[in-house]
Amino acid sequence: MCDCGEKAHAKPIRLIAAACNNMGIGKNGYLPWNLPSEFTFFLDTISSVSTPGMKNLLVWGRKCWEAFPESLRPLPNTMHVVLSRTLRQVISVPKHAQYLCSDLQGSVKLGSTHPLSEVIETIWIIGGVEPYIEALQHPWCDLVYLTDVQADFECDTYFPEFNNNVYKLVDEFPGVPSGIQEENGIKFKYQVFKKVAQ
Ligand SMILES: NC(=O)c1ccc[n+]([C@@H]2O[C@H](COP(=O)([O-])OP(=O)(O)OC[C@H]3O[C@@H](n4cnc5c(N)ncnc54)[C@H](OP(=O)(O)O)[C@@H]3O)[C@@H](O)[C@H]2O)c1
Repeated sequence: MCDCGEKAHAKPIRLIAAACNNMGIGKNGYLPWNLPSEFTFFLDTISSVSTPGMKNLLVWGRKCWEAFPESLRPLPNTMHVVLSRTLRQVISVPKHAQYLCSDLQGSVKLGSTHPLSEVIETIWIIGGVEPYIEALQHPWCDLVYLTDVQADFECDTYFPEFNNNVYKLVDEFPGVPSGIQEENGIKFKYQVFKKVAQ
């Protein structure tokens, strides 16, 4: 159960990732592949809100945050939490709200209680592995966006196993292109897994 407290307003928690044939997601701190349209889909998804004025809270492991290109900041409609047990502060970027939490539950609490709860629509878990593992167990986690990169890449970081009886692949999902995509000679498919009622 979530121990966010009585004043918590439940927010959808969603994971987003792309994984190749061996479920690899990263190599040497970066993505193993160059798929610009998939990356654009990622950016569009995490920065999209249904109600003007609302924002998404993006939860980043410290390494993912550090590797994210400065040129893409700030992302529209977003606020950011970096997870770290070692950092004491995150460097402030103008017009770019940032928070630091020492565990995932702290970031969920931040987004679901006053004052951020008034403006946060969705809590997106950007990775890496540990935030994904914890978020998959969270009762508010309803969707997993997981692009299937249909190729072999050498990786050192892997998307965690998750229970296909709990998260079921959806045939078609609004806003998500269907069918096999191809870029730079690499085939890939956008997928969304939805948590079934337990
Ligand atoms: N393909 C994809 O979709 C995708 C998505 C995300 C990431 N990636 C790849 O994955 C790799 C990075 O992932 P990673 O798993 O190695 O690193 P990460 O999760 O980005 O960063 C790890 C660090 O984050 C902090 N952290 C993580 N979970 C925490 C928690 N629950 N509580 C407090 N602090 C926490 C710790 O920081 P401190 O050491 O400061 O305590 C930890 O050392 C890169 O290669 C990246 O490109 C790929």
